[in-house]
Amino acid sequence: MITFENVTKKYVNDQVAVKAINLEIKKGEFFVLIGPSGCGKTTLLKMINRLIPLTEGTIRINEKRISDYNIHELRWNIGYVLQQIALFPHMTIEENIAVVPELKKWSKQQIQKRVYELLEMVGLEPDKYSQRKPKELSGGEQQRVGVVRALAADPEIILMDEPFSALDPISRTKLQDDLLELQRAIQKTIVFVSHDMQEALKLGDRICVMRDGEIVQIGTPQEIIQNPVNDFVREFIGVNKLNPFHLEAVMQPITDEDHERNCKESISSKDSLQTILQKLAQFECLGVVDNGKIIGMVTRASMLQYLAHDSLERGNAND
Ligand SMILES: Nc1ncnc2c1ncn2[C@@H]1O[C@H](COP(=O)(O)OP(=O)(O)O)[C@@H](O)[C@H]1O
Ligand SMILES: [Mg+2]
Repeated sequence: MITFENVTKKYVNDQVAVKAINLEIKKGEFFVLIGPSGCGKTTLLKMINRLIPLTEGTIRINEKRISDYNIHELRWNIGYVLQQIALFPHMTIEENIAVVPELKKWSKQQIQKRVYELLEMVGLEPDKYSQRKPKELSGGEQQRVGVVRALAADPEIILMDEPFSALDPISRTKLQDDLLELQRAIQKTIVFVSHDMQEALKLGDRICVMRDGEIVQIGTPQEIIQNPVNDFVREFIGVNKLNPFHLEAVMQPITDEDHERNCKESISSKDSLQTILQKLAQFECLGVVDNGKIIGMVTRASMLQYLAHDSLERGNAND
């Protein structure tokens, strides 16, 4: 759906921000770009809707080069959500959401219906919120409006650049949950920039880890956790930061059936997280042995859930 062929971006001083990227983002996919500050995530994202011109290479959307699209057609069909809440302060919430539908010359009734539908979708009661100004909403509520504004004209693609990072942890978690639910309902192609691995693991169908303008690894959350390609990715996943690791948090009760059929390998209750992850790369299910007795099991799914769990609930010491 979105393909990058040898895409390079150099800024004025010939400094390379993005280096010969090849990438294919699939239709309906939730694709997360992640990496440290300055690695080129925003540059990569903004080249998709031509906010930043490429230096070399080609980007295509549905096989057509982005340079061959009419710029308005391209931008109106790509929703865009920024980190900073970027609502127009003098306009009401309804007017803010209506910007692109109006450019696309939708009828008044059609627009109002759409605004109401969208506000309801993110739990903002339309009668209460549609006529307010942005400053009469909390930060979390404003960013919710930012998200639905990007959806307003029903774009095929939505680009999101660290949309939740300015929010407090509770609003962030809530918006992540809402976005996941929304994505399941609307099945858009979402390209989402994050610098938070927990967020990436929670949201992404696939994650693309970047460093210094290059792709280090692309894979599903499970693939990345189980087979990080190098120390950089391993470090970034934060395996080392997840101490103290509590086995009880990932251990599940084991049934006789699981034991016999699924758990071909076991670990000791004293094994480190690293050891357990290595074994999970090979085995779907591990029996947990304590003093010679099986006391439970750890599965790939339960581990993934643990690793993707919001840092909030593990204490902010990990942030
Ligand atoms: N307008 C610009 N002019 C010159 N250099 C830039 C510009 N925008 C970004 N850069 C540089 O390009 C690199 C990648 O930046 P960016 O894409 O914003 O990274 P990220 O979003 O991952 O933090 C950085 O080294 C940054 O300093
Ligand atoms: Mg950025």
